[in-house]
Amino acid sequence: TIKERVSSLLSQMTVEEKAGQLTQYFTFPGVQEQLDVVEAELRAGRAGSLLFVAEADEIDRLQRIAVEESRLGIPVLFGYDVIHGFRTAMPVPLALAASWDPQLAEDCQAVAAKEARSIGLHWAFAPMVDIARDPRWGRMIEGAGEDPYLGSAMAAAQVRGFQGPRIGTPDRVIAGPKHFAGYGGSLGGRDYDEADLSDSELWNIHLPPFKAAIEAGAGNIMSAYMGLNGVPASGNHWLLTEVLRDAWGFEGFVVTDAGAAADLETHHFAADLKDAAVRALNAGIDMEMAPPFDDRSAFKTLPEALKAGRITMDRLDLSVSRILEQKFRMGLFESPYVDRARSVQVLAMPEHREVARRAAERSAVLLRNTGDLLPLSRDQGSIAVIGPFADAARDTSGPWIFKQDDGETVTVLEGIRKAVGNATRVDHSVGVSVPKRLHPSIFENPFTPATPEITVDDDAEIAQAVKLATDAEVAVLVLGEGQIMIGEHASRSTLDLPGRQQELLEAVVATGTPTVLLIMTGRPLDLKGVEPEAQMMVWYPGTRGGDAIARLLFGEAVPGGKLPYNWPRNIGQIPLPYAHLRSFKPEETTMRYWNEGNAPLFPFGFGLSYTSFDYDNLRLSAEQIAVGEAIEVTVDVTNKGDVTADEVVQLYIHQRFGTSARPVRELKGFRRVNIEAHQTQEVTFTLGPDELRYWSTATRDWVQDATVFDVFVGGSSTAALSTRFEVTA
Ligand code: IFM
Repeated sequence: TIKERVSSLLSQMTVEEKAGQLTQYFTFPGVQEQLDVVEAELRAGRAGSLLFVAEADEIDRLQRIAVEESRLGIPVLFGYDVIHGFRTAMPVPLALAASWDPQLAEDCQAVAAKEARSIGLHWAFAPMVDIARDPRWGRMIEGAGEDPYLGSAMAAAQVRGFQGPRIGTPDRVIAGPKHFAGYGGSLGGRDYDEADLSDSELWNIHLPPFKAAIEAGAGNIMSAYMGLNGVPASGNHWLLTEVLRDAWGFEGFVVTDAGAAADLETHHFAADLKDAAVRALNAGIDMEMAPPFDDRSAFKTLPEALKAGRITMDRLDLSVSRILEQKFRMGLFESPYVDRARSVQVLAMPEHREVARRAAERSAVLLRNTGDLLPLSRDQGSIAVIGPFADAARDTSGPWIFKQDDGETVTVLEGIRKAVGNATRVDHSVGVSVPKRLHPSIFENPFTPATPEITVDDDAEIAQAVKLATDAEVAVLVLGEGQIMIGEHASRSTLDLPGRQQELLEAVVATGTPTVLLIMTGRPLDLKGVEPEAQMMVWYPGTRGGDAIARLLFGEAVPGGKLPYNWPRNIGQIPLPYAHLRSFKPEETTMRYWNEGNAPLFPFGFGLSYTSFDYDNLRLSAEQIAVGEAIEVTVDVTNKGDVTADEVVQLYIHQRFGTSARPVRELKGFRRVNIEAHQTQEVTFTLGPDELRYWSTATRDWVQDATVFDVFVGGSSTAALSTRFEVTA
């Protein structure tokens, strides 16, 4: 059995080999000194895993050193940031959440896993399941947005996509949900800043997606960098052991984020590097992801710690066995090497690009469509396609994509040109330069593909864009943020359109030519009240983004995505979660700022279609249930228009009284359904104890109250149709 094979190996390992098994090293392409160190560690049997090697030949070469030249021949696990695709870029994870289609997210990550596995990778540092309620935080794009219910569904789906039904499924990789836990709560949205979260927030908001990911079978968890309520997450025994292991029974292995064990010293939590290693391991870390750019690996000091009696051999063995077990389950001992022919074949599979196209189509969110400007007709006459991201392949793929082929990426401009052929004249202007970041990104380094710079004379180009827009029947503006402006190390203090894009937007809208604004980014932006006729969030749509967007623009596909966050009217409202507590007489004082209301610009769950839907006949299976019982909620949804389209039917609850006060609305069910023109579909949800309970600060535990619930069903978090039921003791 695997257990026997693990203990037989363990019995042969030296302490140094055990500590090495618990270490993961960065290997950046072409950095010879780093490679020399890594190769020496592999030969000595002192490296359990490597990250950032993503070439099949190099993976194979390094694996052969571990297997053929080390004493025990233990293969290494190769990990990588496979966040939304490997060669084929899928829409970014926030976009997948906006599809409200967990099966789609699963399909996308299954493709990503297949491509990654084909070149020899075994483990994806994904999904990111951090709840994000502050859009200044750049990493919001990597998660599912602000809601724990949607976030949990997406977390579980992505784990299934990466891993398949079990670890070791062919063509799949180990999933590593991250960053455990509370990273999305960082102060001011500043990346890596501390998170100060109440227990109620942790249990009810930030932890549920992790729990869902673990229940879906995740083999790994990555611990977060930042301090959580004063105790760094990567040295937090309560979090890593009492919650993760004791309460949830997680059996996989925990890796730190890059350098996060050594950083326990940076936090002024650990006295020095050795203390950091001891405290990380004893808190519950199994593997240290070593710091990327220096050799301050903390876990190298574990043998000394053992000698000094600060860790036990049992504790060391426990972590080693967790890692070896995953290696056995992945079949690494039987087939450690890469099948090159297969990898060439897998990376070329056209069906992968089809999944990407479908996903981009299903994730777009239509926010405004005045006078039914969309869909456009293919023989429109003339279209001016304007903006720095209209023809930017690298940005179309989005952040966290390193191995794409930009030549395969279809930009918006290309997609539109292909779609209209000779029927319509298409003119293009970039409009303005892509602005530079004030502080460079960690990804602007020699190891990651650079974004080609767009530098133009802004005054002249804006004038040219205005001329093209004036001469066209329709203007399509593609504005947003470059992929380097969002993601890790990419928080911003404003939500403005970077550079002079706002000026470009206003100038084009002022021409009076009907304008479609496509926004390419992964957070809400502040457009200063400018309202083009049509506005669609296209996120970073991935390899086939341009094709998908063209199909949406010309009506071959109908938008059906919905926002996975509240879109604030201005940045001063942040944080503005839809699921807030009713803490003051709201009916009397809706204005808690004297200069701004509390409503968002677009609410959570909102998105338009080329048709409209009517909700009616909301009914319950009972008027009363007892604690522990379930109730069914049914609604009729009618497509009132002439096109078949998808609607995301959403169910929200509100508990009227109880042990704790609960949010005004909380999502507790959703289903994306396809409804034919003028047809009605019945949709039923079940609310049971899992949906009706919550963690209460009053009892410091999960409770389900005897109470009254309001139920709201509709197409967004402002759904008007409601009913009520009682829960008795
Ligand atoms: O996986 C990432 C993590 O999300 C942030 N820090 C670096 C890791 C490895 O690239």
